[in-house]
Amino acid sequence: EEVRKGGFDHYMQKEIYEQPQAFFSTLRATDRRTLPSFVCKAPSISLVACGSSYHAGLIFKYLLEESCEIPARVDFASEFKYFPPPVEGLVIGITQSGETADTLAAMKQARAHNCRTLAITNILGSSASRIADTTLFMRAGPEISVAATKSFVAQLAVLMQIINARAEGRYSEILLHAHQAIENVLLMDPEAAVDLCRDAKSIFYIGRGPFYPVALEGALKMKEISYIHAEGYAAGELKHGPFALLSPETPVIAICIPGETYGVMVSNIKECKARGAPVIALGSEGDPDLPDIADVFIPLPKAHLFVHVLTSLVVLQILAYRTAVALGRDIDKPRNLAKSVTVE
Ligand code: G6P
Repeated sequence: EEVRKGGFDHYMQKEIYEQPQAFFSTLRATDRRTLPSFVCKAPSISLVACGSSYHAGLIFKYLLEESCEIPARVDFASEFKYFPPPVEGLVIGITQSGETADTLAAMKQARAHNCRTLAITNILGSSASRIADTTLFMRAGPEISVAATKSFVAQLAVLMQIINARAEGRYSEILLHAHQAIENVLLMDPEAAVDLCRDAKSIFYIGRGPFYPVALEGALKMKEISYIHAEGYAAGELKHGPFALLSPETPVIAICIPGETYGVMVSNIKECKARGAPVIALGSEGDPDLPDIADVFIPLPKAHLFVHVLTSLVVLQILAYRTAVALGRDIDKPRNLAKSVTVE
């Protein structure tokens, strides 16, 4: 067991460190010129998934719609299966294990509605790859820890390649170097942020655009392995309810990257501070405002939007991991959870 952990304390830690390789290998294996033509031509795209894989789908939706103006929708597989929306064309099932019962059922449902289906999975010969018309395999390698990490960034590698194909290679250069950016944030030790989180009653994660699903995924990682209640929110929605819960015991983690919504995010952070919540802000290094406004500022190397999505995710994984370690949790096998949910 200790040998298989390769000197790391937990599989999750090892798998976090394997992410640059998982991203790069997957990127290489899914070159945009080899993608099936029905994926490259679909006028709209529908995605089904569960858990972290659902969040990967949501990130894809934001990035695809913004970069290529191709409409996409993402459904929880468990909803799609019973309430199939009127989709046509292409349905993508995202599933690390390829065995999640709800995702398999949704993909069968899509086939029954005459949609073309594509599976994105980590496991050769998995049920998802047998159901789908075509499969794109991630190259994340075996993931042991229940909480998804490297399979998540590998899913994003495939999904970003699909966007790159639709954008005629516009993002090739950026994607080719993205693994180095992931590498650069791996050694970050968010100690001050861990100190704020470990005694929290509840933690809110906020972001806008693609950083909204990044917030959802960060919160999911935190609750899965630390058992602290955590919720991801679209930053503009905080005032429609969660404001009532803000206090010094409810830190807010804000992902605030330069771009169109930077100004409103800064306002959101000030609103949280004014209501007594400590704020941990993830932003771009050299940010002029965040170090002064936030209690803890975590600088991410300056990068393209796609890369910021990846680096902010990785930092939130590390924060969840370090917090769970500080609390002495069972990191790789959190209570009541399974790696692959093969029943409904
Ligand atoms: C379980 C795992 C999650 C995973 C989800 C979907 O809940 O604990 O980490 O995201 O299933 O799994 P899949 O294999 O379909 O991606």
